Amino acid sequence: MAVGIDKLSFFSPNQYIDLTELAKRRDTDPNKYLIGIGQSEQAVIPASQDVITMAANAADQLLTEADRSEISMIMFATESGIDNSKSGAVYLQTLLGINRYARTIELKQACYAGTYGLMQARDYVALNPGAKVLVVASDIARYGLATAGEVTQGGGAVAMLVTENPKVMTLERDSQFMSQDLMDFWRPVYATDALVDGHFSQDVYREFFKELWQRYREQTGRTIADFQAFAFHLPYTKQGLKALKDILPEANAEHAEHLLAEFEASRVFNKRIGNLYTGSLYLSLLSLLVNSATLKAGYRIGLFSYGSGAEGEFYSGLVQAEFKKGLINEQVERLLSERRKMTIEQYEKNYGQALNGPLDREIDFKDDPAKFVLAGLVNQQRQYINQQNHGAE
Ligand code: COA
Repeated sequence: MAVGIDKLSFFSPNQYIDLTELAKRRDTDPNKYLIGIGQSEQAVIPASQDVITMAANAADQLLTEADRSEISMIMFATESGIDNSKSGAVYLQTLLGINRYARTIELKQACYAGTYGLMQARDYVALNPGAKVLVVASDIARYGLATAGEVTQGGGAVAMLVTENPKVMTLERDSQFMSQDLMDFWRPVYATDALVDGHFSQDVYREFFKELWQRYREQTGRTIADFQAFAFHLPYTKQGLKALKDILPEANAEHAEHLLAEFEASRVFNKRIGNLYTGSLYLSLLSLLVNSATLKAGYRIGLFSYGSGAEGEFYSGLVQAEFKKGLINEQVERLLSERRKMTIEQYEKNYGQALNGPLDREIDFKDDPAKFVLAGLVNQQRQYINQQNHGAE
């Protein structure tokens, strides 16, 4: 039975900064950010959004009423969760009106957890034909103002509905994965910003990819010629380009050119959103599906997932004939065109406004048009509001 991604949806808040302006403010040549890092804009997360509201805003757009009553499991992947005990998936169940007989779980392994969720969802549906599983990857990437990692921040959420006979892409049973105890990136429980050994992380990412790619070829007998495109976890888009270039010499000149063109399609959206940790690979997949001029039914996409700490997985998916029907028409283009550009001063002021500490407070959400917003904290409980119902009662 074919199992995979039936529907795919994205959300990121309505404000961003221009990285040329950030470069000037940081006394840096803009080409370092635009070319050297491969990022042009960066999503800025307002105090009225967190990983729960972003996940709900992404998932809500793809769920029908039938989906909400039929989903049997919600897997919420994040590394910037809001609670060390309660699962974010339970909040999602309530906000999205998903039936009470759904299993709910939160998953963590740095940027890799969304892929683990997807693979578990695939196996669950394969064992339970007809089942529907919602996998949502949602994160806010923070490294701190004026740090080397600042240019690789961002945030957002990707939601995927996994079913049999999927519209978008089947998930093949060919995963190669590996883990190794490394300190390339981590965030102790008391910290709001990540700690990162960025150059070490770059190298580990590439080494994991090369090792898994070689293992994949040995195990499956496939070669680069069997792939029409690759999608990478993109903490910043140059990272994926470096990994792709590591294996391009295996392709003939024409195919190498084709794979580079597909890579460009796969990073259009990530360049303008930045890192969203668990969701980055799946935003790149969405970018490829929307922006590629050549993808068609049966094309094999290779996907590389990497989570610091560290874990990697390489697997493939087959594009389905009706893949555009599993996407929301013009969703990301609309979201990007409706965003408000912040000045660097506004962004710096906003940076300190994340919801921290136990005191009751209200959050001003009047400039946030998203359906689900965070309205404040009462008795150490986050107050979520559906703006479409708010005020109607
Ligand atoms: N024009 C064009 N390119 C330029 C340039 C200019 N004026 N100035 C520098 N560059 C290039 C550099 O040559 C380098 O490219 P290369 O890596 O292909 O050699 C690139 O820009 C970055 O320069 P570098 O000096 O390495 O930047 P940095 O020390 O400030 O750090 C990161 C960059 C990515 C390591 C840092 O932003 C970081 O740690 N980010 C977090 C990464 C992360 O999230 N990792 C964990 C998840 S996988």
